[in-house]
Amino acid sequence: MIEHLQPAALALAQARHVVVITGAGVSAESGIRTFRDTMEGLWKDFDPARLATPEAFAADPATVTRWYDWRRLGCLAAEPNPGHVALAKLEAWLSETNRTFTLLTQNVDRLHHKAGSRNVIELHGSIIEWRCTRTGRKSTPPNAPFDEFPPRSEAGAPLRPDVVWFGEALPQPALDAAEHAMHTCDLFMSVGTSSVVYPAAGFAELARYRGAPVIEVNPAPTSLTRTATWSLRGRSGQILPHLLNAAMA
Ligand SMILES: NC(=O)c1ccc[n+]([C@@H]2O[C@H](COP(=O)([O-])OP(=O)(O)OC[C@H]3O[C@@H](n4cnc5c(N)ncnc54)[C@H](O)[C@@H]3O)[C@@H](O)[C@H]2O)c1
Repeated sequence: MIEHLQPAALALAQARHVVVITGAGVSAESGIRTFRDTMEGLWKDFDPARLATPEAFAADPATVTRWYDWRRLGCLAAEPNPGHVALAKLEAWLSETNRTFTLLTQNVDRLHHKAGSRNVIELHGSIIEWRCTRTGRKSTPPNAPFDEFPPRSEAGAPLRPDVVWFGEALPQPALDAAEHAMHTCDLFMSVGTSSVVYPAAGFAELARYRGAPVIEVNPAPTSLTRTATWSLRGRSGQILPHLLNAAMA
């Protein structure tokens, strides 16, 4: 029995413009580590805040790109879990009935795409794509370890992961698309994110301000819990399929 499941499912069934934001927690059941958990084994002596910065890349591109290549290969090997799949099914169901669905993700792993989600806005970029530090041209490296660190682009310049590093601005097209979706949002759902990182954290506040119900899915309380309409406690791979089934019933 999941507390608050029924009222949340009813709101989802009645919504016309659904916006969902996801964070690292939605991929935890696919074996992708949250930021804090990546710092073990080989990388236990490193601090993510000191690897995921433009300054770290400038100072030691070899170490930074080795860390990202290791994480990239982990993401490529991972499979979507029932939480990702439920969100893809939710989108398909809403679009069949002429309703809209926008998925804002802070994840860089591309697992939402792999699960079949279509309208995905990557707020923090993607670790699967890399970009030339000279021309800005993006490319998708093959699914094999790099043989040089940093790898080089066709232009001969170092490649960097197409992710947003600490201290960098979020991509403007993604922010514009997210803000556009928030204009009409009449139900907001926050899944597997600690809701501390702005501006992502601000979307839930904006939804509440607009009077839209906010559903939180997380095994632990977060800074959103106090203002969310319903907090569904548990793993997203367990809660989301139940929520979807109840909404579609
Ligand atoms: N998968 C990825 O792409 C990935 C992985 C690591 C870090 N990051 C980056 O790290 C930053 C950290 O912010 P964040 O809020 O995404 O992550 P976070 O690490 O701050 O928070 C993760 C949240 O997930 C919850 N959680 C853990 N297991 C869960 C489960 N099974 N189901 C649902 N929720 C679960 C935790 O309680 C926590 O609130 C982001 O900017 C993101 O870009 C991304």
